[in-house]
Amino acid sequence: MKNKTTVNSLIKMKQENKKITMLTAYDYPMSVILNEIGIDIILVGDSLGMVVLGYENTLSVTVDDVIYHTKAVARGNSSAFLVSDMPFLSYKISIQDAVQNAGRMIQQGGAHGVKIEGGAGTSDIVKAMISADIPVKGHIGVTPQAIFQAGGYGLKGGSEKEAQKLLNDAKELEKAGVFSIVLEKIPQELAKEITESIKVPTISIGAGVYCDGQVLVTHDLLGMFDKFIPRFAKKYVDLRSVIKNAVSQYKQEVEEGKFPGKEHSYSIND
Ligand code: KIV
Repeated sequence: MKNKTTVNSLIKMKQENKKITMLTAYDYPMSVILNEIGIDIILVGDSLGMVVLGYENTLSVTVDDVIYHTKAVARGNSSAFLVSDMPFLSYKISIQDAVQNAGRMIQQGGAHGVKIEGGAGTSDIVKAMISADIPVKGHIGVTPQAIFQAGGYGLKGGSEKEAQKLLNDAKELEKAGVFSIVLEKIPQELAKEITESIKVPTISIGAGVYCDGQVLVTHDLLGMFDKFIPRFAKKYVDLRSVIKNAVSQYKQEVEEGKFPGKEHSYSIND
């Protein structure tokens, strides 16, 4: 069985050049599967708003939504480091609010740490959470909770000015005490520079191969969500078609009286 992933084992993986694997999960069965494969970090991402709850973006997700899904994932988790995403407005109104909401993810949800979006401006929030013994993962580059402020999900760090800002954000987050940083949709050359400039692991989603690890939204990897498919999301299987095939076979067999057969039925003497 895989050893439990910890904040320290993740930093050791970076030091030893071992790639870190991270995926999202929102329920018990997926958590069990990711554990059986030995995925290092499971994220209960606020992407759940789009891929599970059917919202247009992540902004409608609440703290209670994330806790509900974290609880289910925690029941199936044995070895992964379990991170809950802090939803929109759950950590930027006040520091007290932020620590309280993050604490609920740990105490009620069963998470081991939380993730927040934002750069150097979130340093005080990170420090306050860490003072309360809550491990924090940063998230810079494209930050989907800022979709309206940014005007969309376009590449970040393309200009020299933006690249310098992101490099500074990563360094400030490291100073504040994050155990890792997600880099979303930035040029791979910049992701390499950031990765080489800090001691905590970087996890890429659309930030190229030079990061210390990779994350994908599991529904994208499985072909379960087709409303919005970013270029960086590799579809390893078309599970939507597999499911549609099975469900239409079931429908046809019921309509034709072929299901249930004898092997799925009971008799008085059974
Ligand atoms: O919400 C999410 O799933 C995320 C990942 C894309 C990193 O933040």
